[in-house]
Amino acid sequence: MFEDINELSVKPEVGNSTKPLLPAVPSSEVYLEDCVKALKRFNDNHFDLAIVDPPYGLERFKKGGSHVNKHGSEKGQWNNEKPTKEYFDELKRVSTNYIIWGANYYPEHIGKSRGFIVWQKPYMDGMHTMGNCELAFTSFDCNARSIPINRATENRIHVTQKPIALYRWLLKNYAKEGNKILDTHLGSGSIAIACYDMGFDLTGYEIDKEYFDAAVKRLDNHKKQLTFI
Ligand SMILES: C[S@@+](CC[C@H](N)C(=O)[O-])C[C@H]1O[C@@H](n2cnc3c(N)ncnc32)[C@H](O)[C@@H]1O
Repeated sequence: MFEDINELSVKPEVGNSTKPLLPAVPSSEVYLEDCVKALKRFNDNHFDLAIVDPPYGLERFKKGGSHVNKHGSEKGQWNNEKPTKEYFDELKRVSTNYIIWGANYYPEHIGKSRGFIVWQKPYMDGMHTMGNCELAFTSFDCNARSIPINRATENRIHVTQKPIALYRWLLKNYAKEGNKILDTHLGSGSIAIACYDMGFDLTGYEIDKEYFDAAVKRLDNHKKQLTFI
C-alpha cells in the first residue's frame, strides 16, 4: 500500500492510476480566516481527513533564515503561536480522521497513536543545526511509516513550506476516493496543489493575508499550467 517517492523523481499524477483529474474538477475552497472561528461552523465529522500543520511555537522563525532576510521578520508572527486546546478539540470534532504535523510539539493535546509518520529530509543528513525529520500524529490504527522526501524544489513562498510530494504521498496512502479534506493552516498551499491534482475537494484556512494571497496565486498558476498540458 505504501510507496516511497522522492521529490526529484515525482511526475505530475494527472492521468495516472492514482486518481483521474477529469471529469470531476475538485473544489479548492480556501479562506483568509482564523481557523478556530471557522471550524465552529461545521457539524461533527463534516470532513473525512484533516491534514494540518499548525505553528510549532518556534521563536526562531522571527529571526534569521534566508526567507526572513529576504521578506522581513514580520512574517514570523503567526508562526509563533501554538494552537490552543480549543483548536484541537474542534479539529477532532469536525474531522473523522486527522494527521497533525509537529506532533512532538503538542503532546498534551494529541494523545497516543500507533500510526505516527516520520518525514525524513535526505538533504539534511548528519548533524544539521535543524532537525532532519518531522513527526506527524495520525488517528489511524496502522503501522508507523517513514517517508524520505527532499525539501520543496518548487518556488518557495513560505518559511515552513512543505513539499507537494509529501502531501501527495499522504493523500495516496491515507485518503480514500471522495474524501473531503481539511487543512486549517494552509501556509504556502502545497496541500491545495496536491489535492487538486489528485481529485480531492479541499477546504483550507490561512490567517496571514500575505501568505494567503501568495498561496492562492500559486494554486491559480498551477491550475493554469495544467490547462496547457
Ligand atoms: C507551519 S505553517 C504551515 C505551512 C504549510 N504546511 C506549508 O506547506 O506551507 C502554519 C501557518 O498557519 C498560519 N496560521 C497561524 N494561526 C492560524 C489560525 N488561527 N488560522 C489559520 N491559519 C493560521 C500561519 O500564518 C502559517 O502560515
